[in-house]
Amino acid sequence: MEPLAGKRLILGVTGSIAAYKAAYLLRELTRLGAEVTVCLTEHARQFVGPLTFRTLSGRPVLSDLFDPRGEEAVEHVALAERAHAIVVAPATAHVLAKAAHGLADDFLSTLLLAARGPLLFAPAMDGGMWEHPAVRANVDTLRARGVIVLEPDAGALASGLAGKGRLPEVEHIVEAVRRLLAPVADLAGEHLLISAGPTREPIDPVRYVSNRSSGKMGYAIATAALRRGAAVVLVSGPTAISPPPGAVFVPVQSAEDMREAILQHLGEATIVIKAAAVADYRPAHPSPAKIRSGQERLSIDLSPNPDILKEVAARRGSAFVVGFAAETGDVAAHAVAKLRDKGIDLLVANDVSREGIGFDADDNEVLLVDRWGGTEPLARRPKSMIADAILDRVLALRAHAQTTRAR
Ligand code: CTP
Repeated sequence: MEPLAGKRLILGVTGSIAAYKAAYLLRELTRLGAEVTVCLTEHARQFVGPLTFRTLSGRPVLSDLFDPRGEEAVEHVALAERAHAIVVAPATAHVLAKAAHGLADDFLSTLLLAARGPLLFAPAMDGGMWEHPAVRANVDTLRARGVIVLEPDAGALASGLAGKGRLPEVEHIVEAVRRLLAPVADLAGEHLLISAGPTREPIDPVRYVSNRSSGKMGYAIATAALRRGAAVVLVSGPTAISPPPGAVFVPVQSAEDMREAILQHLGEATIVIKAAAVADYRPAHPSPAKIRSGQERLSIDLSPNPDILKEVAARRGSAFVVGFAAETGDVAAHAVAKLRDKGIDLLVANDVSREGIGFDADDNEVLLVDRWGGTEPLARRPKSMIADAILDRVLALRAHAQTTRAR
């Protein structure tokens, strides 16, 4: 089932240049099954028109041109009362101030007062404003009341300045919404060690051998595990995505770096998930100087990298070990053989020859093969949902293994 199925949300959008990102957020929330009603402030309408939000949500957009004291508005206040949560993204300094002080001079601020469910603000504002004592005080007031106010990201701002004030990444807002609405902590007390992304094997100081892995699958597992209460160490090769807040993040480059980092954190791990696409071979003699152009022929000798997963399986103690397999052809047969060869508990196999799933895609479709002879296909769905399904399977298999051992 979609993780936000049946959840009624109101998405408040306020007047920031980041308002266009609210369209991506809306798309993600609806993709996960939420029923989202959008409320635009008058200033937000200057940045993005209601048609975009009406089309993406499939519902009328509440707007400030609509008098909140009018008769029709009453129904919408009832909508706020029935909403499971109100999410304001982007949230300007102004809306934070109004919410902190209980002002209700437009539609959104009226809804914020009428809401019975939790409130979540994803701030976006210009350099320096976030640090201003007035904003700090308003954020403190809201947080003291149990309202979630996410930390904005640091980086380049629309004004040309740099600082803390960027809207948090859409995926992090989605994750915060999920955490707010489904506070399951079935991984509390677990220590997950997760590897993700490709490795880079140097040829010379400027070139390397690598692969197409984006890291999305491993990061999605780390994110889901954190939401479910686990402590997470994420060992990652170079990727273009930002690590989930709350993870201990260990960036690495080569397979040898990755091996070292994994073995260093293996001791405390209760579950190890190796989603990384480790390069099987590395240049045997990386050149210390840049290799010049103009040569008739050039060949690179490759030597095998250590198999990190095998080593982890051999030294795992009581940890549950999950591997991934990038396959083409007869995925099921290769998966069973690889599971045995590596000596692991669960293998997640995907067919990397197919378009739209697997490497660098947002969706995945996998086959789970376990040590006890079970197989479970997971039909195509977003990687965040595949991540939860893998974690569900790990918990079920471990419980099964423990009861069988106890008998
Ligand atoms: N893996 C690893 N160390 C390596 C190679 C792979 O830890 N040197 C891990 C990956 O992280 C993944 C699993 O092994 O969890 C399978 O990776 P895959 O590339 O599918 O398999 P290989 O073992 O490389 O086998 P082959 O390429 O021959 O299919």
